[in-house]
Amino acid sequence: MPDQVPAVRLSSITKRFPGVVANRDIDLVIARGEVHALCGENGAGKSTLMKILYGMQRPDEGEIEIDGQKVSFRSPADAIARGIGMVHQHFKLADNLTVLENVILGAEPTRLGRIDFAAARARIREMSQAYGLRVDPDVLVERLGVGDRQRVEILKVLYRGAKILILDEPTAVLVPQEVEELFANLRELRAEGLTVLFISHKLDEVLSVADTISVIRRGTTVATGLPASGVTAPQLAELMVGSELPTPELRESTVTDEVQLEVAGLTVRTAEGRAVVDEVSLRIRRGEIVGLAGVEGNGQGELIEALMGIRPADSGTIVYGGEDVTGWPTRRRREAGIGYIPEDRHRQGLILEGTLWENRMLGHQTRRPNSRGPWIDKRGARRDTTRIVREYDVRTPGIDVPAAALSGGNQQKLIVGREMSGEPRLLIAAHPTRGIDVGAQAAIWDYLRSARAAGLAVLLISADLEELIGMSDTLHVILRGRLVAQVDPGTVTPEELGSAMTGAGRAGDAG
Ligand SMILES: Nc1ncnc2c1ncn2[C@@H]1O[C@H](COP(=O)(O)OP(=O)(O)O)[C@@H](O)[C@H]1O
Ligand SMILES: [Mg+2]
Repeated sequence: MPDQVPAVRLSSITKRFPGVVANRDIDLVIARGEVHALCGENGAGKSTLMKILYGMQRPDEGEIEIDGQKVSFRSPADAIARGIGMVHQHFKLADNLTVLENVILGAEPTRLGRIDFAAARARIREMSQAYGLRVDPDVLVERLGVGDRQRVEILKVLYRGAKILILDEPTAVLVPQEVEELFANLRELRAEGLTVLFISHKLDEVLSVADTISVIRRGTTVATGLPASGVTAPQLAELMVGSELPTPELRESTVTDEVQLEVAGLTVRTAEGRAVVDEVSLRIRRGEIVGLAGVEGNGQGELIEALMGIRPADSGTIVYGGEDVTGWPTRRRREAGIGYIPEDRHRQGLILEGTLWENRMLGHQTRRPNSRGPWIDKRGARRDTTRIVREYDVRTPGIDVPAAALSGGNQQKLIVGREMSGEPRLLIAAHPTRGIDVGAQAAIWDYLRSARAAGLAVLLISADLEELIGMSDTLHVILRGRLVAQVDPGTVTPEELGSAMTGAGRAGDAG
């Protein structure tokens, strides 16, 4: 069917943001009924292009054609009306509603002025059947795991009549088994005639699910419409980065026998008394990176908060540098040399409206160089911010701009620089490289490696299994608040780790 009108044609799309051209003269053709992978490293411009196609952003230049007709979207509603749907990386479901309520939200079928739940339920059942997207319409979303939530998001989009489905890095939140399920769903959608645009920077995924591949590098298409059957992973990697990819890998061991952190029987309960952290015991020595693998929501957040003194421990002890710090407030722990890279840099790590130097002080107000005695020392803070910008290669026009002006990678380098200042002896790093570009990611791995060599003890939490395997000296698996396995990062594969994370596998010893 060579002469078929393509489902999507993007021509000469350019989109500029202050200081960066996110998309530069991009051409892309998506045939109807194919799974088309758009790949490129972090920051290449993939999401921007998809947001343009979905009407969330307006291109500065260029044209969009859907089914051969020129369109101009002012909002996602316009795109939805033309049969385009998008599943975002961060789900937007309401936890306290059922699957059914979420799916129909804002598109409720009515009968005699009332919501026709029976009709909606029947339609959802029919759709889940047709597309192999098994979910129970009447279960509360808060009860669902990540894979199910994603299926609900897909259903929601299909319910609105999408014929072209955009999935922006859908596998980033999934363990390998869930990835396989998602791919089966995508193949089913293709069989039903839908067009799927699948965004990823993972080569093996792209090669396994796509019919056709396009590659973006630094905002421009470097390859379009490659048949997946005719291209290899190394070729794709080269197209994506122009050279070899940096990898998270530790070289020689720097682990000492000096214990920096010893956690014993730590338990944290919810208000209802459920143990979300359940008798966790672990030890981190100086010069050691201890990784914690787990599907999100298995207690890792609460564990970190207990270690930082943000949340009280119900029982157990935290001994840091030989001292029992279990009852210490957060500030005292920080002052004693515990650095903290929080999971959500926008909510916890930075004040986006604040300048870089104000952010330098955040959580560190009571210490030099930010204060002298009881007084804030702005000059000291400013000077040290300049040092961090230089040493950590934070790309910024200056230290007086708001943190919001920086890219995600540069925001994260600022946080890492801040948390590494004052020579911490323990660093708690939650998803330190999530959502940042490859260059910044490699830089952060380097900082962690050299701090480790200098004797820093690190607790690393990450959803990126390759990062965990590559960076950890010791690797634990957490499931429902318990450390259920310890695996050897030297030999474990991401698949085995994924199995252990869902409790399916038998990787290593319990403990
Ligand atoms: N709303 C925005 N404001 C300013 N810069 C942005 C915005 N969105 C994206 N960028 C920048 O555009 C570039 C491409 O980003 P993005 O499209 O998110 O890449 P990808 O999805 O491939 O990782 C990056 O440098 C990013 O920092
Ligand atoms: Mg993106």
